[in-house]
Amino acid sequence: MVDYSLVHGGQTLPILKQVSLSVARGQVVGLLGPSGSGKSTLLALLAGVERPTQGRIQVNGVAFDTLSTDALARFRRQHLGIVFQDFHLVPTLTAWENVALPLDLAGLPDSRPQAMAMLEQVGLAHRTTHRPAELSGGEQQRVAIARAFVSRPALILADEPTGNLDQNTSRHIIDLLFSFAKQWSTTLFLVTHDPQLAGRTDQQFYLRDGRLAEHNGCA
Ligand SMILES: Nc1ncnc2c1ncn2[C@@H]1O[C@H](COP(=O)(O)OP(=O)(O)O)[C@@H](O)[C@H]1O
Ligand SMILES: [Mg+2]
Repeated sequence: MVDYSLVHGGQTLPILKQVSLSVARGQVVGLLGPSGSGKSTLLALLAGVERPTQGRIQVNGVAFDTLSTDALARFRRQHLGIVFQDFHLVPTLTAWENVALPLDLAGLPDSRPQAMAMLEQVGLAHRTTHRPAELSGGEQQRVAIARAFVSRPALILADEPTGNLDQNTSRHIIDLLFSFAKQWSTTLFLVTHDPQLAGRTDQQFYLRDGRLAEHNGCA
């Protein structure tokens, strides 16, 4: 059970209230809820970017409150992948260098072949030396997905990953996320506003004003 409050202008704002959820490895989870309901905040807690005011987050058997800030950052790099609505690629690096980044940070001596193989898997073998500004939105998100999955993390957090893309491109991006999650038994949290897409997930959670309700018939 997790609470998360922010102090803003001298006032304590409760953002997440008594949120409790447990997800089995390899599940694809849809996270829904109106704008401002706390979806991105919940992902930030699951990523260990923010710490709960009360309660405990555990990912892959590791309780975040037992880790120092440095250890938590290391854990995040090793076991988590994050996909953002606006891609968050490093603008000065090429596509393959962006994908290689998590491997480089983990100290892998030769990350290039793995990064290239991942780009091929997302259909971008012909764009490996392009920089983000030289790629379309859909291509940038494919690079971001390749980067998120390259170190085979246990958990991927995707915050409205198709929010900036047209319908057709969105479908391809979602298909990629689902197929990689299945291929590598990755747990996937997918924030989405699309009920049809949410219907494709194994389990759905609905946030409203910081409180959670599970959908799937089991309330
Ligand atoms: N840095 C901040 N300071 C104050 N309030 C914030 C801050 N970040 C988020 N909030 C508030 O937290 C609530 C949840 O935000 P968020 O998690 O981004 O919602 P969602 O992703 O569902 O749209 C919102 O009411 C928002 O205004
Ligand atoms: Mg959000």
